[in-house]
Amino acid sequence: MCGIIGYTGTANAIPKMMKGLSVLEYRGYDSVGIAAERDSQIQIVKCKGRIGALEEKLRDHPIEDCHCAIGHTRWATHGGPSDKNAHPHRIGAVTLVHNGIIENYKDLRSSLAAKGVNFLSETDTEVAAALINDCFFHLSDPVASIREAIEMMKGAFAFGILFEGYPGEVFAVRRGSPLILAHGSDGYYLASDMTALLPFTKEYYALKENQIVRLSSGGAKIILSDGSKVTPEWKITTMTPESAQKGGYSHFMLKEIHEQREAAVKSVSPRIDKNGLPDFSSDGIDKDFWKKIKAIQIVACGSAMHAGLVGQRMLEDLAKVPTTVHIASEFRYHPPMLPEGSLVVVISQSGETADTLAALRYAKENGVPTLAVVNAVETTIAREADRRIYTFAGPEIAVATTKGYCTQATVLWLIAAAIAHTTGKLDDARARNITQSLLKDVPAAIEKMLKLENQYHKIARNLINHEHVFYIGRGIDYALSMEAALKLKEISYIHCEAYAAGELKHGTISLIEPGTPVIAICTEKELFEKTESNIREVRSRGAQVTLICREDLAIPADSADEIVSLPTDSDEATVFAAILAIQYIAYETALLLGCDIDRPRNLAKSVTVE
Ligand code: F6R
Repeated sequence: MCGIIGYTGTANAIPKMMKGLSVLEYRGYDSVGIAAERDSQIQIVKCKGRIGALEEKLRDHPIEDCHCAIGHTRWATHGGPSDKNAHPHRIGAVTLVHNGIIENYKDLRSSLAAKGVNFLSETDTEVAAALINDCFFHLSDPVASIREAIEMMKGAFAFGILFEGYPGEVFAVRRGSPLILAHGSDGYYLASDMTALLPFTKEYYALKENQIVRLSSGGAKIILSDGSKVTPEWKITTMTPESAQKGGYSHFMLKEIHEQREAAVKSVSPRIDKNGLPDFSSDGIDKDFWKKIKAIQIVACGSAMHAGLVGQRMLEDLAKVPTTVHIASEFRYHPPMLPEGSLVVVISQSGETADTLAALRYAKENGVPTLAVVNAVETTIAREADRRIYTFAGPEIAVATTKGYCTQATVLWLIAAAIAHTTGKLDDARARNITQSLLKDVPAAIEKMLKLENQYHKIARNLINHEHVFYIGRGIDYALSMEAALKLKEISYIHCEAYAAGELKHGTISLIEPGTPVIAICTEKELFEKTESNIREVRSRGAQVTLICREDLAIPADSADEIVSLPTDSDEATVFAAILAIQYIAYETALLLGCDIDRPRNLAKSVTVE
């Protein structure tokens, strides 16, 4: 949550700030600001609203060409969205932008207020600025002051800092929140996410915990905790500037829905050997590792947790490994028994989700091996887990995940096949069927489902007239229903609940009235008869039913008002086809309602607070 950026070099910093912030907006978008240094003077322009509001403000308060600046786009935590709570914050010689949360800010604020600091905002960030300024007052050295100040801070932070008296220099530090440094032909950069820097450079370094960095137009120096200085070891990202742009689509979400064809293939192909069998050796995972697993605890949030539910089904069905799925924010309060042979699998698109990270750390503290299924490379979760499997979905910009979720599910499916094959529960032929299906049938099914846009639009036309919608399903379709309901809720703001189809009659069916939309998912042939009975129960009470189901089912004509047919080339193809349909229905609904699809209200892409 929140995006920060910084630059120092030979070019004008302001256009770079604006461009980078517009990419970072997905991390938070309720206020925005920049601080620029020119001729040793620091000028701040900030406001409530999005980048457009800042552009307008800059027309009235222009910043002349400058070569050193920091910028911020905010997702409010401490203090509501307002001009005064917008970053950067300045106290004395220190001007800073912050991503994260200072948990002990209240205590720090009282002691600084007692020393005479006059706070202008309600933010924890201003307290951080005051604390660093207080340290700077007696140490007179930026790096030493940052180090002393962060010793006193609890919580997560990535700071970009300008110090008065240090023209042309940007300082930064991180703990818990991400921070990327980059090196371009015209200077040095920092940002919360490499995607913001792709328009300028491909050379990056992911700053490590507690490392302090000092950037000037002449170089980047990392200062380690013992005071020694090192030069970053730059790497080249494979991401392209296009990957962080809409590429002709009206929304990132639509683009990312379409990208699932390729993403699904990219997520599994490096893990299939020349004999067509699952093989994770390129991730440093050998067969012995899979053989030792006796139980799996999957821990994740939101859609990633829903992908975990799909994975659970496969891990238990195919690999016969007892698997439990936990909401990450609850994991520590009711920690499961973690007997010998347990593996904790954390799933995260962003690799920075605070709740998931906390669960990962808990597992590590308890000596349990950990594996991260993660998309964003070199992120905290990817780095801290004992092992990591990247989902290779590419940058996901829309706040609502689509290709991130899809590739988490494909990777988990393949992990289940790998364990099942290694432990003799699947023979070569069946294991090969699964890999080929993931590699070929799934993208083909996605392609097919992308063509049903008109049908999704028709379904959406009905949904927009209702305040409440239900998704129902049994087995894996209940897991898909949960994801479908979340997707619809978060981007269209229509209340939607997922129910295990058989559970409705135990209470919730009382909410069904004439016209209530119920969307039933049926990807499993054996379960259709029972799901159909549940559909009849709601239809006889007036529900309007949309059925998303296998095309090979004999569906009585009076079962549903609308039927979305799913290809049945393989089980995998059917499930991923259903995923495409539920995402697209949510998208079309939000589109018709005129919602801000890529940036739904109150949300942010990367949830770095607990
Ligand atoms: C919903 C959505 C969220 C994320 C959740 C976990 O569309 O995107 O529910 O799935 O916040 O995020 P990651 O996967 O980044 O840990």
